[in-house]
Amino acid sequence: MTIKFAIITCSDTRTLETDEAGQKLEQLIAEQGWECVRRVVEMDERPFIAGALIDACDNTDADIVLTCGGSGLSLRDVTPEATRDVADREVPGIAEAMRAHSVAITPFAMLSRAICAQRGHTLIINLPGSPKAVKESLGYILPSLQHGLEILTGEAANCARK
Ligand code: MTE
Repeated sequence: MTIKFAIITCSDTRTLETDEAGQKLEQLIAEQGWECVRRVVEMDERPFIAGALIDACDNTDADIVLTCGGSGLSLRDVTPEATRDVADREVPGIAEAMRAHSVAITPFAMLSRAICAQRGHTLIINLPGSPKAVKESLGYILPSLQHGLEILTGEAANCARK
């Protein structure tokens, strides 16, 4: 199964050219032989991010939409709220696993408010905004994503043999 991704970097200052974390995500996805169908940068405004999430989930063939940044404690950080605005339901285990893994690397990881959620058949995953943090976070959950998607899309019936 070739997993297709869309990347939304949430930042008031980055552009597509200076979006190092988004570029790192593209590289990590390509290394797995998977595909990135879209990468955009959105301002840290809840309606803008929510709109970009809806567009990526509903109007591309992305299986997974990754957001990057905007999940911390600054009052400009609104990515988790925008994700909840468009989500059908949350998938707490993925965010919990990323935080548990990341806190062992840096205690600052406890400051992440990132969530993961489903919108229809698409998985939305909030990631932190630095190239180092996206590598640590996505790298940890990557092995579980394919199986999760197989269940989400109905390709696998259950987890009995995993
Ligand atoms: N997770 C990992 N694996 N590595 C990191 O360096 N940085 C943390 C955290 N998660 C970090 C991490 C920091 S410093 C912050 S403030 C929060 O993610 C939120 O980051 P964001 O506001 O860029 O989304």
